[in-house]
Amino acid sequence: MNNSLIIALDFADGAEVSRFLQPFSGKQLFVKVGMELFYQEGPSIIHMLKEQGHQIFLDLKLHDIPNTVKSAMKGLARLECDLVNVHAAGGKEMMEAALEGLEVGTAAGRNRPKCIAVTQLTSTSEEQMNKEQLIPVTLNESVLHYASLTKAAGLDGVVCSAWEAHAIREQLGSDFLTVTPGIRMETDLVGDQKRVATPTFARITGVSAIVVGRSITRSADPLKSYNDWMKAWRGEHQ
Ligand code: C5P
Repeated sequence: MNNSLIIALDFADGAEVSRFLQPFSGKQLFVKVGMELFYQEGPSIIHMLKEQGHQIFLDLKLHDIPNTVKSAMKGLARLECDLVNVHAAGGKEMMEAALEGLEVGTAAGRNRPKCIAVTQLTSTSEEQMNKEQLIPVTLNESVLHYASLTKAAGLDGVVCSAWEAHAIREQLGSDFLTVTPGIRMETDLVGDQKRVATPTFARITGVSAIVVGRSITRSADPLKSYNDWMKAWRGEHQ
């Protein structure tokens, strides 16, 4: 999991995914399946990606009452993904229930998927958080608070921006995963993301894994972009 680059497969259906993956044939990737794709294709997309040997982050960001989240996670565990997630805003009891569901749903002798919690979405700004969520603290404080709550619930880590990863590792230890979307090369469009960082900054600050979507998936040459991103993430440019 550490030092991974996770490609966000934000595509409308399996046919688009297959087209995108064609030039990567034979390469084992770490990919992220989000709501758009999973709601369209369901478990079959996970089976297909697993057959091709890819590691999978199933990014469904569960947020509901504890019992519902527990039952949903029990079912998701059977898909044998590497990583799944919830919203920390669902609370400690909900996060504990998520973990319980995963443990119950994991077959004997198999690894329980790692479970992380979204702190504040990387598309959320401090102003938005203050005004719309009525959380009267800084974004950093809110993210750190959610990260502590996540650790107290026994989860494996958080989704956060690279800007908060260092403080989280200092406070909660380097085993606690920090998975960071909102990563952009200096030349990339920011899009709807607010708390963006470069791969170099992410590496220096010690994040566990970066999630890269549109910069690779919307590129004219995805394989070249992926290779360029891997070099930048590993620091092979310098
Ligand atoms: O295209 P881009 O690189 O912005 O894609 C980022 C991916 O990470 C998207 O799939 C988005 O849903 C996901 N994500 C995020 N912020 C979070 C959690 C997940 O951007 N806090």
